[in-house]
Amino acid sequence: MHKNNSGLALSHTHWLDDHHALKYSMRASLIDQLRFSTNEEVLEIGCGAGNWTFLISDYIDHEGHITAIDIDSESISIANNRQNLLAKKNITFEESEINHFLNEDNRQFDTIILFNTLSYLKTPQSTLNNLLKKLRSGGRIIIKDTDISSDLYWPICPEILGKVSTALLKAAKNNVKTGSYDPFFARKLPSILSSLGNVTIDTHSQAFTLIGSTTREEKYYIQQNASLVANILKTNASDNNLLANWKKIFFPSRITEKTIFDSIDFIYSMTEFIFEIKNKK
Ligand SMILES: C[S@@+](CC[C@H](N)C(=O)[O-])C[C@H]1O[C@@H](n2cnc3c(N)ncnc32)[C@H](O)[C@@H]1O
Repeated sequence: MHKNNSGLALSHTHWLDDHHALKYSMRASLIDQLRFSTNEEVLEIGCGAGNWTFLISDYIDHEGHITAIDIDSESISIANNRQNLLAKKNITFEESEINHFLNEDNRQFDTIILFNTLSYLKTPQSTLNNLLKKLRSGGRIIIKDTDISSDLYWPICPEILGKVSTALLKAAKNNVKTGSYDPFFARKLPSILSSLGNVTIDTHSQAFTLIGSTTREEKYYIQQNASLVANILKTNASDNNLLANWKKIFFPSRITEKTIFDSIDFIYSMTEFIFEIKNKK
């Protein structure tokens, strides 16, 4: 499941780079919409090899700075190489675990970013509470995460879709995880965020939608998401054929076999849940 050197699922640089290229225009428009000031002090947690960091750094000039941390040493080493190539001076990449960083570093930040990272943490609520204390006056925390049940794949026989939904619901109820990653995390965010108390919450959520004929990269991305569902079906499906039937929809066993991608009705859509949190004045 695209693990990085630290064994974290869906965190390998190749996977994150492919993903970033596919969603680039949507991501660039999100960063534009988030309106960074040129002199901001930004902390990015779980930066991987820096895809989002480099996007944000275009909005920050020499008066501002981005500290980008990740627990994975290989990702940080790739990020540093990229930074040298791009000659970016306003970023510091640092290998660090978030809770360790929070104990050691006593700076305050204008913006704290956690993109697809909170869903890996053991105690997301208390980490967020600690992060709120790291905000400068007027500062914000921006969280982006997903939920595997937000993915729409069509057309699929309703009977199979019904059984897959039931299996996913069961897995969510049983708190099934992929390693330390929680594929059902976005649905937990409203209660986590409301427990923070004296904060305002805005949303910038986006839909990523593909229809009709797909490129090789798009097909690969969708197949990998379908594989994540397949992993969950292995232990949560009600009947033994469901996993095999699900795989057949996305992966042809023979070159001539038709898959979901050959249908003129084909649609894939998923939601990026994005929240901006600020301490109330
Ligand atoms: C799915 S990747 C997301 C990377 C990047 N934010 C993006 O959206 O492309 C999750 C990242 O969080 C990092 N991570 C997970 N747990 C962490 C922790 N406790 N402290 C710091 N980084 C962590 C992983 O190493 C990985 O690079």
